[in-house]
Parts: sequence; structure tokens; C-alpha cells
Amino acid sequence: MTASPPAAPLFDRFGRIVDYLRISITDRCDFRCVYCMAEDMVFLPRAQILTLEEIYTLAQAFTELGVKKIRITGGEPLVRKGALELLQNLGRLEGLDELVLTTNGSQLDSMAEALKAAWVKRVNISLDTLDAAKFKAITRTGDLPQVIKGIKAAVSAGFERVKINAVILKDRNHQEVCDLVAFAVENGVDISFIEEMPLGVVEKHNRADAYYASDSIKADLRKQFALVASDASTGGPSKYFNVVGTQTRVGFISPHSANFCSTCNRVRLTVDGRLLLCLGNEHSVDLKQVLRSHPGDMAVLKQAIIDAMLIKPEKHEFNIHEQPVILRYMNMTGG
Ligand code: GTP
Ligand code: 5AD
Ligand code: SF4
Repeated sequence: MTASPPAAPLFDRFGRIVDYLRISITDRCDFRCVYCMAEDMVFLPRAQILTLEEIYTLAQAFTELGVKKIRITGGEPLVRKGALELLQNLGRLEGLDELVLTTNGSQLDSMAEALKAAWVKRVNISLDTLDAAKFKAITRTGDLPQVIKGIKAAVSAGFERVKINAVILKDRNHQEVCDLVAFAVENGVDISFIEEMPLGVVEKHNRADAYYASDSIKADLRKQFALVASDASTGGPSKYFNVVGTQTRVGFISPHSANFCSTCNRVRLTVDGRLLLCLGNEHSVDLKQVLRSHPGDMAVLKQAIIDAMLIKPEKHEFNIHEQPVILRYMNMTGG
């Protein structure tokens, strides 16, 4: 029997259609990036996190409600045991147009081919610097050559697109934006530059001092590259520019300098089963509780998701000049 056709799409009080779900499948990571985590992170105990079966059921409920794009994130999603099998199952969900992945690249060297075979369409890989010592300083535990190997493996595997994500911090890696674009061009991939967002308190890291606006990056790049604005969209917040004479697109994700909330089409599922209605707010609904108290009842689950849309906030409330109001770290949502 085939699944019933999508019901009315999910929409919120501001008329925005939600057809994109980001799922964090683990809060764990083999890196400890300074803008993402504290050094001595405590991770969630197993009983509190969703099982892979629960994640699949939730994904199924969302696709039955009209969700067309699912992005798997972490922590680092590929360190979770069974991640590949989950992706293989999700890739077969009826009604899903795009299964995509955000990763730190550490496991891609060995996993890229299998991910491609599992119907993962596009892969976004974090890479903030091409300097091995800086890479170690930013990620605290990461190994640059391993990630570069991972990026090359992703390119060889033939995903529809591969994109690098670079969080740009003033005086830390802002001097490298041209080198990063040159690397993207050489490897035939896209790149997004991201303004850092204040999630969780990270000691010895001052976000106001580290702020480097997208317009400054653009001005730096224009000294070396011709950029032409593009109206391409991946359904994410990047505003894209084509690098003239190449296949590379440069995106800017500018939560501070160019708010994109009015076009928000997404919600997030945390690994402990909370549906988070906005990255920059705490409004959430405990779907794990709904799932565990009504096992097998898809109708109840779907109604809880529909109702949750009513508390989706209009916009994020990030302010890098104050102590973060959002105490959760980025590894709870994977961005
Ligand atoms: P595609 O456009 O599908 O390639 O993905 P993406 O760039 O949106 O996703 P990715 O996981 O690579 O995230 C890149 C950056 O965008 C991360 O820093 C995310 O936190 C940020 N981002 C994605 N969605 C939102 C959002 O709704 N609000 C904010 N403030 N940031 C977001
Ligand atoms: N601000 C902006 N981007 C962040 N990321 C992680 N932490 C932050 C932050 N505080 C990025 C990672 C990854 C993506 C999912 O989110 O670099 O590429
Ligand atoms: Fe890990 Fe990604 Fe957070 Fe870095 S940004 S610590 S790679 S989850």
C-alpha cells in the first residue's frame, strides 16, 4: 500500500510554509570547535536521546505533512553508530525531494561513497582555515589533512553539490577568505561564509570581538574575484554569488547583518526529541514525550507537529554584545 498524499503543508502564524526539517542525530562530535562547544562538554545520556527508529518515525510524520527536505546534522552525525543505515532508510521516504547532510568531514574519506549510494543529494562540510595549526586551534581536536581528504572523497563520490561552510572570526581566520574561495574553485565546490551566532557561553571567546560582517568579507573577496549576485537558492539562508569564470558559488549567511528570518522555511529536531521552532529562540515542543506516550499513534504525533507551528517565533533574538540568552550550544542543533 502506498502512503497517503501530503496533507496541507505546515505553516506558521506569519504565513511561512515549513517544508524543511533539520535533524540532529547526535550531540557528540570528534571536534570541539571554539564557537560551537565548551572544551569540557558533557553529552546527553543514551536514555535521553532518540533511538534511530524514533528518528525515522518522526521523519516519516514530517514528510507525510509535506516536508520535502531533510538535513541530517549533529554534533557530528557520522560518529553516531547506525547513521548510515538511518540515512539509507530516510533516503527512501516517500515525498522527500532532498536528503542532505552537514558534517565536519572527518569520516567522509571512508563514508562518502556509501552516503552517495544512500541517496544523500548534497553535503555541506565545515572548513574554516587551510592552515593546519589554526585548524587545530579552532577545532581543538581536528586534523586538517583528514578533512581535506574527506572533501576530496565527497567530490569524487559525485554528490549533486558539495559546499564548504566557513565561520569567519575576526583576526582568527578572516585573512583567509580569498584562500578559501581559491580552494573551493580548485575543487569545484561551493562555499558559504557564516557570521558566528551566540549560542552557549564559551570561555575565553568573545563573540563581539570576533565579529566579521559579510560585507567586509565581500569587499575582501572582490580584490581577487569577480562576484555576480545569483538568485540561486538551496532553501537555506545563503545569499549566493557566482565566482565569474568558475562553477563555484559563494554564499553569505548573515544572521546579524542581513536578517533572513522572514523567509524561514525550517524547524529543527534535537537529539533529545525537542522540536525547536527557531535556532535563535527556545520555543520548543517535546516530541519525544508525545512519541513515547502514544507509541505507534501517527495521528497524535502529526497533530502535535501541526500545533507546534503556532509557536514558531517571527525572528531570532541574537545579540553578540550581550551574554548569550540561548544557553544551548550549537551541537544540540547542528546549526
Ligand atoms: P543548504 O542551503 O541546504 O546548503 O544548507 P545550509 O547552508 O542552510 O545548512 P548548513 O547546515 O550547512 O548550515 C550553514 C549555517 O547556516 C550554519 O551556521 C547554520 O546555523 C546556519 N543556518 C541554517 N539555518 C538557519 C536559520 O534558520 N537561522 C540561522 N540563524 N542560521 C541558520
Ligand atoms: N555560529 C555560526 N555557525 C556555527 N556553526 C557551528 N557553531 C556555529 C556558531 N556559533 C556552523 C558549523 C557548521 C554549521 C552546521 O554550523 O561550522 O558548518
Ligand atoms: Fe563538532 Fe560541528 Fe560543533 Fe565543530 S561545529 S564542534 S565540528 S558539531
